[in-house]
Amino acid sequence: MSQNCAVILAGGQGKRMKSNYPKPMLKVLGKPMIDWVINACENAGIENICVVTGFKHEIIEAHIGGKHTTVLQKQSLGTGHAVIQCVDFLKKFTQGNTVVLCGDAPFIDENTINNALTLHNDEKNAVTVVSANTEKNTGYGRIIRNGKGIAGIVEEKDCTPQQRAVTEINSGVYWFNTLNLLEALNELTPVNAQGEYYLTDTVEILINKGLKADAFLSPKPYFYLGANDRVGMLKLNDIARNIEIQNHLANGVCINCADGITIEKGVKIGAGTEILQGTILRKGTVIGENCVIGPNCLIENSIIGNNTILNYVQSYESTVGNNVKIGPFVQLRPNSHIKDGVKIGDFVEVKNSTIDEKTAVAHLTYVGDSDVGKHVNFGCGCVTVNYDGEKKCRTTIKDHAFIGCNTNLIAPVTVGEGAYTAAGTTVVNDVPDNALALDRGQFKIKEGYAKKKLSKRRKNV
Ligand code: UD1
Ligand code: CA
Repeated sequence: MSQNCAVILAGGQGKRMKSNYPKPMLKVLGKPMIDWVINACENAGIENICVVTGFKHEIIEAHIGGKHTTVLQKQSLGTGHAVIQCVDFLKKFTQGNTVVLCGDAPFIDENTINNALTLHNDEKNAVTVVSANTEKNTGYGRIIRNGKGIAGIVEEKDCTPQQRAVTEINSGVYWFNTLNLLEALNELTPVNAQGEYYLTDTVEILINKGLKADAFLSPKPYFYLGANDRVGMLKLNDIARNIEIQNHLANGVCINCADGITIEKGVKIGAGTEILQGTILRKGTVIGENCVIGPNCLIENSIIGNNTILNYVQSYESTVGNNVKIGPFVQLRPNSHIKDGVKIGDFVEVKNSTIDEKTAVAHLTYVGDSDVGKHVNFGCGCVTVNYDGEKKCRTTIKDHAFIGCNTNLIAPVTVGEGAYTAAGTTVVNDVPDNALALDRGQFKIKEGYAKKKLSKRRKNV
């Protein structure tokens, strides 16, 4: 096992978010920021990860669920104090290096982490700060360079006017030789403008010990960005969303107007598929080629085939085949399986059901807990009555059945192959193959009856 490890700082409250959640749990593109950082570490091959919690620590602990180490920083006394809480963890990995990262700066990536480590190892540094060059340097610590390596990091509040003008900033990501980090933590004091234990002071401490410190200036845009408030969260989300859309465009996905389109990380879309405005594609979704998705679809954890059209559809944990047409205003609730060539029209809900090939459910119908065969036709306004208030029961409809308008199918019940149900029928018993189920009171005409009623009504007006 590698002796390299990571410490992720996630103890701060982020007061300006006005949230009951710790800031690192706020989401960028549907994923908590802390997960972006953990994933970057994991992708960089770092197995030993320690997350420092503080504000609402139980939420982060529950989220991490024992997968990684967490330590609680009881009081927010600064980034250096946060790392001091990890001393017991760090002592297990004294043969390696430690990367320290911020749990609220989601765009750090594995290449930046590993390229910085390469420089760190090549130069045999005690600490390598990952830095960025930006004119928008407000709020960041400034990197103070000397001839070779760096002389230190100065926090904005402690800067002289010349230092404030420096555009090379501390991203908040560092590689430390772990033994050197432990030594430096021992010597941290809170003597500065904010009265905090600054992790950044370790740089000078190590230099004063005659050890080497340098900065790895990453050319990547955005990787150092965090958010202090909701405006900042919107910016991070905008950046992440645009990057993701660009990736899909490069893969041949057609997006001619990106308004309201959000595609979460890990979503796969085949070439030639068009995504229309207002569509949200959430994690776990895979879409085939040459589909038209949108406008206004919300698709979560669903697999969609090729040449399929989804228009105003919400789909959760479901599968949809090839050459399917669904919408508008359709909901596929979890565990729905819509096979090739199916047509589902407006105001239809499907739940925990299979609808087999080339079946049509054109309008205003509920199909729940059902197994529907091939080439079945549903009229308008049919209901599979699956719940009696206590238990859910299944409906089976075999191939080529014809379900008349406004049929209620009281489950458990089976409609046989090629069977018909007459419009308005409430089906309480199984219908044999090729039979007609008909349930109607006798239809009567009473001549002149309405006329009497009408004359009464007219008098009253
Ligand atoms: C820190 C750096 C600054 C750098 C910037 C990058 C210090 C002293 N300064 O400043 O040089 O440019 O990050 O974003 O380190 N945290 C804790 N416990 C604490 C304080 C903070 O866990 O007691 C966590 C926060 O939740 C956050 C991270 O540490 O994830 C950084 O803290 P923050 O207060 O944002 O640091 P900055 O003042 O921005
Ligand atoms: Ca701060």
